[in-house]
Amino acid sequence: MAYETIEVRPIAGALGAEISGADLSAPLGNQVFAEIHQAFLDHQVIFFRDQTLTPDQQKAFTRRFGPFGETPFVTTLDDHPEIIEVVKQPGDRTAYNFGGNWHSDFSFQPQPPMATLLYSREVPPYGGDTLFANMYLAYETLTPGMKRIADDLIGVHSARRSYSPAAQYQHDQLSGMEVKTDDSAYATVEHPVVRTHPETGRKALFVNRVYTVGLKDFSKTEGAALLDLLCRHAERPELTCRFNWTEGALALWDNRCVQHFAVNDYDGYRRVMHRTTVAGERPV
Ligand code: SIN
Repeated sequence: MAYETIEVRPIAGALGAEISGADLSAPLGNQVFAEIHQAFLDHQVIFFRDQTLTPDQQKAFTRRFGPFGETPFVTTLDDHPEIIEVVKQPGDRTAYNFGGNWHSDFSFQPQPPMATLLYSREVPPYGGDTLFANMYLAYETLTPGMKRIADDLIGVHSARRSYSPAAQYQHDQLSGMEVKTDDSAYATVEHPVVRTHPETGRKALFVNRVYTVGLKDFSKTEGAALLDLLCRHAERPELTCRFNWTEGALALWDNRCVQHFAVNDYDGYRRVMHRTTVAGERPV
């Protein structure tokens, strides 16, 4: 598609593009929105800088893509149950940060969110980048033998590593966020390891280190070994991009073909982000 109303500048060979020419605080015309949506499908994660967004304006932009996703476990903003405030405070000198391992958002849900929007309200002077990995490429660059194996696998996803009561101590180290773990985190759902994107028709690997806890019909040891192979492959640097946040930037990524990782390298500084999600469909 030729873009007529926005500029689209790729930031890496694998995925990711910065968009300019759109003011997300205002209602977007159909043509601008169609081009943004196309850039999202073409580049898997897109970035807008220098936006001034109230929570209501972020929600209005999110709603252009569909209904909001469900947010379990994490306490949302008082007046905005659709927004998680992702906060690390200067005093939170901890090995744990929210989102600090490769994952696709809430893949433990039967219908995980199709997209996530993350808006930076306060950023550290350095660090705090987010990494993204292109899961189409992760699938396409598998060897023919691994592709045949992966095509038949079913992943078992669960929130237990992050949100079962055993993980509460991690969340309690982040003084600016409230997370309430509970036993519902032990529930599991099954998703194909290779899913087909409903809009592009492309196949993508759909496993991640946080929520994919096993493989159907494989022992724990077998599943862990295969998943480690697939995850390590998907995390290769040439399949990723890295976004350095500035205040007022918004990232919009496609959880159906992208996983991401929040880098925890800014101890002593505050980082505040507002996160919304768009409801998705059952992966097939
Ligand atoms: C997340 O995983 O939702 C948060 C990512 C980030 O803070 O960079």
